[in-house]
Amino acid sequence: MIPKPFNINRRRFLTTTAAITAATGVPGWFLELEEAHAAQPKAPGPNDRPGVALVGCGGQGRGDCNGASRFANVVAVCDVDDNHAEVAAKQFTKDGKVPAKYSDFRKLMERDDVHAIITGTPDHWHTFINLLAVKTGKDVYTEKPLTLTIDEGKRLVKATRDNKRIVQVGSQQRSDRNFRLACELVRNGRIGKLQHIIVGLPTGPVEGPFPEKPVPAGLNWDYYLGQAPMVPYNGKNCHWDFRWWYAFSGGQMTDWGAHHNDIAQWANGTERSGPVEIDGKSLREMKPGGYDAASKYRIDCKYANGVTMAIVDQSTVTDRNVVGEGKMTPNGVQFIGPDGWIFVSRGSIKASNEELLRTPLPESAIKLYNSGNHMGNFFDAMRSRKDPICDVEIGHRSISIAHLGVISVRMNEALKWNPEKEIFTGSNATEANKWLAREQRKPYDYSFIA
Ligand SMILES: NC(=O)c1ccc[n+]([C@@H]2O[C@H](COP(=O)([O-])OP(=O)(O)OC[C@H]3O[C@@H](n4cnc5c(N)ncnc54)[C@H](O)[C@@H]3O)[C@@H](O)[C@H]2O)c1
Repeated sequence: MIPKPFNINRRRFLTTTAAITAATGVPGWFLELEEAHAAQPKAPGPNDRPGVALVGCGGQGRGDCNGASRFANVVAVCDVDDNHAEVAAKQFTKDGKVPAKYSDFRKLMERDDVHAIITGTPDHWHTFINLLAVKTGKDVYTEKPLTLTIDEGKRLVKATRDNKRIVQVGSQQRSDRNFRLACELVRNGRIGKLQHIIVGLPTGPVEGPFPEKPVPAGLNWDYYLGQAPMVPYNGKNCHWDFRWWYAFSGGQMTDWGAHHNDIAQWANGTERSGPVEIDGKSLREMKPGGYDAASKYRIDCKYANGVTMAIVDQSTVTDRNVVGEGKMTPNGVQFIGPDGWIFVSRGSIKASNEELLRTPLPESAIKLYNSGNHMGNFFDAMRSRKDPICDVEIGHRSISIAHLGVISVRMNEALKWNPEKEIFTGSNATEANKWLAREQRKPYDYSFIA
């Protein structure tokens, strides 16, 4: 009998699937399931396009806004550096319509044609912008790390709920099939009961001190600093490099930590909770007067379910590192159990035994939230009013792990944490609880957005 010819689309699908499997390790069965159940973002009709505004027009903000422009009209842009606002206004001019330019996000929030805000500022500004957005009835797609402190996260979760808003956190690895597959396999016991997680993050820079420089024309330095202490501009404490200073961020521990800790929590089933013990150490001396966020570090965490987790920069090799033959800790997340290990990173998934990936999960398996498009998922959530894949509480809990690590490193002490009450307990709790919030430089305290 002559075999039935392949349907051309099916043939193309199988060829594509084989190529994806070869390149990334994602098995065919998972791709087939994805094809069958993929939740595609709803294509908006001409009258179904919300108005969005971008606050923070640097590299990532403009990238996000470009993604959003598939689903929405960009009506305004805002930056404290006029040069960046100008670039964004040009980039998002469409059919001769130039987005309005703002230098103070509070003014922008008064517009009723803005239905959603995209927050792409440095971390120390995220909460103020997001809080005002949800209080003025806007939905938010915000960059990670969601917050600068744990206290900020608690306030934002509450305000989002009180105002019934949608907040999608830009931890886009949740909408990547590799990461979801790894988490589904771990959640369904593929490696036995999860025992240990290793989160590998990039090593941060050690540089400085940096001489003072004139503030570039067009940049409002006082506003840029916001709640952070007043310091002279030096060219290395502003655009992009703000990441390496605790005043604005938390180094790689919060930068990449926001992504990989989020995945660790997802697989561990603790995405709305957190660890109970944290012991962090900085392993390299920083240069006095230079970047102060730890460059080389190790944070050991313990969860109430018995799972342990080591968060390390890539130059720090942990005792249980199963990938990379005991050399560098790879950038990604390793899940270790009695029946093997699974490692996932951007663009690849591996296991101690290929069968761990190749064998399909049963129909009855726990299925995790499936989004193939992080920005599209946000606009879907705006319409459905259902939680997006990286809801505000998940983003808050994911970045809390990094904040806990930073606090432990800065105190140079092991800490005990109560994830229900979100407070430290134990002998050093009084001192540790002071780190949950920070002093905010006036006028950039909460009255700024009252
Ligand atoms: N999801 C990801 O993979 C990813 C990748 C890169 C960056 N990020 C995050 O995106 C954020 C921005 O990073 P970046 O690399 O684009 O930084 P950047 O320095 O290029 O851009 C930040 C912009 O925000 C502006 N800004 C600062 N304070 C402001 C305020 N109060 N109001 C309006 N604008 C303000 C700055 O002038 C600058 O133009 C960070 O939180 C970063 O962690 C996420």
